[in-house]
Amino acid sequence: MTIEVFADDESTAQAAAKAIADEARASVAARGQFVMAVSGGRTPWIMLRALANESVPWEKLHIVQVDERVAPPGDPDRNLTHLRESLLEHSPIRAEQIHAMPVESSNLEAAAADYAATLRQLAGSPPVLDLIHLGLGPDGHTASLVPGDPVLKVTDADVALTGVYQKRRRMTLTYPVINRARRILWLVTGSEKVDPLARLRAADPSIPAGRVSQERALIFADRAAAKV
Ligand code: 6PG
Repeated sequence: MTIEVFADDESTAQAAAKAIADEARASVAARGQFVMAVSGGRTPWIMLRALANESVPWEKLHIVQVDERVAPPGDPDRNLTHLRESLLEHSPIRAEQIHAMPVESSNLEAAAADYAATLRQLAGSPPVLDLIHLGLGPDGHTASLVPGDPVLKVTDADVALTGVYQKRRRMTLTYPVINRARRILWLVTGSEKVDPLARLRAADPSIPAGRVSQERALIFADRAAAKV
């Protein structure tokens, strides 16, 4: 797993966007499409705004969600709200190319299975995503693979539900589909990430992020997180 370190969160996000654009062009040339999964949190939105300015074959892209908080439509807690703001309003991508996790459903278990079916339609069976973007929480969580939750043990489904974490239940991609991805791109910025980033790089299984495959992974970090 390689790591690239940049001065600050802005330059790190810009570099990550350029790397994604390269992967998108290569994937479309090789397979006719690019299926990318995007995490939530705070940091990805600068990266997506930067990606919106890149020259990529937008009509061949599909954006899926790595995880989503169970909250009403348009709620600021919804990752979809920020995903749409960052991409739809600043790039030529069409709304139907962004595949939202169905967290408004009254039957969340069935909705998780439906989303797994959507992934199979887009990326084969089992689904192999072209790129998955992951963030890293101060407690070592990634996606909504959060410490102590049974979701960490799910191996027979690509999409699952968590209990309440930071006031919200979540729908999340699980380790099997994450570790199958052709490229894993970590975006990690800020001094509160020094300890979890060191554990991630050491593949420390005591944190959820430490159990993600390092085979095809790249880390984009700023100096504050990489402590250099
Ligand atoms: C979420 C995310 C989560 C995120 C980390 C890091 O929905 O909360 O998917 O896993 O990636 O919390 O968030 P930041 O990168 O914004 O610190």
